[in-house]
Amino acid sequence: MSRREEVLAVMEKVRSVPVGALEAIRLLHAPEVDVDKVVAVIERDMGWTANLLRLANSSYFGCRRSVGSVREAFLRLGSKNLFHLITASAVIPILRGTIQTREGGTITQWQHSLGVAKATEKMAEASGEEASQHAITGAMIHDIGKVALVQNLRADMVKVDELVRDAKISPLLAERMILGVDHAEVGARLLAKWNLPQTIVEVVRRHHDLPDTENKEDRAVELVRLGNMAAWVAEKREDAGELYVARFLASAVERLGVNDRTALMIAHDVEELHARGAGLEF
Ligand SMILES: [Fe+2]
Ligand SMILES: [Fe+2]
Repeated sequence: MSRREEVLAVMEKVRSVPVGALEAIRLLHAPEVDVDKVVAVIERDMGWTANLLRLANSSYFGCRRSVGSVREAFLRLGSKNLFHLITASAVIPILRGTIQTREGGTITQWQHSLGVAKATEKMAEASGEEASQHAITGAMIHDIGKVALVQNLRADMVKVDELVRDAKISPLLAERMILGVDHAEVGARLLAKWNLPQTIVEVVRRHHDLPDTENKEDRAVELVRLGNMAAWVAEKREDAGELYVARFLASAVERLGVNDRTALMIAHDVEELHARGAGLEF
């Protein structure tokens, strides 16, 4: 068995999101959403309900008055947030773990996810559109493969970090060298196995890829890719190369028509979100 096959076999055993979450996601895909049914599915799972309420009350959503029930959370946040709220609250327990910044600080994987979601939303806004639910959900869970790898193959991921530091290569390349597979592919495989919508699977699979200039890419893929880059700039990531900011600014103009000033402001907004501690509620 190759290393790649071994790693994929380990990933096959990663626990799934709650069954209720999958059911709720399916219900939300119906042309007419039956809120009563969705609420009933969520309320069946106490841990999940608690996560959803915590998320609804987090500063990310900026609610002034606190939300006390699942139904209230839906009414308050509106159907636009319904879908990604459910998905995100279902995967929060999986999105534990921390990220090193260049200044020696740490932020949680969950904070990073919220930062990418915020940047994705703002990138869409700056290019005169609204981010789709799939883009926001994809942003929130884009690094799920990395978390799954760290949790299940910690020793290998330590080697990946060392290789990134010593050989000054990208984390993605280091993962491929050590594991035969990278976290984007692992994440996409997990989500496909859990039957998440194909657009979200593609967002996760392609969030580090260079833009595909030959084929038309889904807008959600482009937005989250730029959202992730904005967050890396904001987080002054250890593993970002020296030219990272320049690459980010060039991509923002080329792919979304967003100018330098606006792109840097979006990165700054993510920095502020982190400074306020949004996401630390978990
Ligand atoms: Fe990633
Ligand atoms: Fe990321």
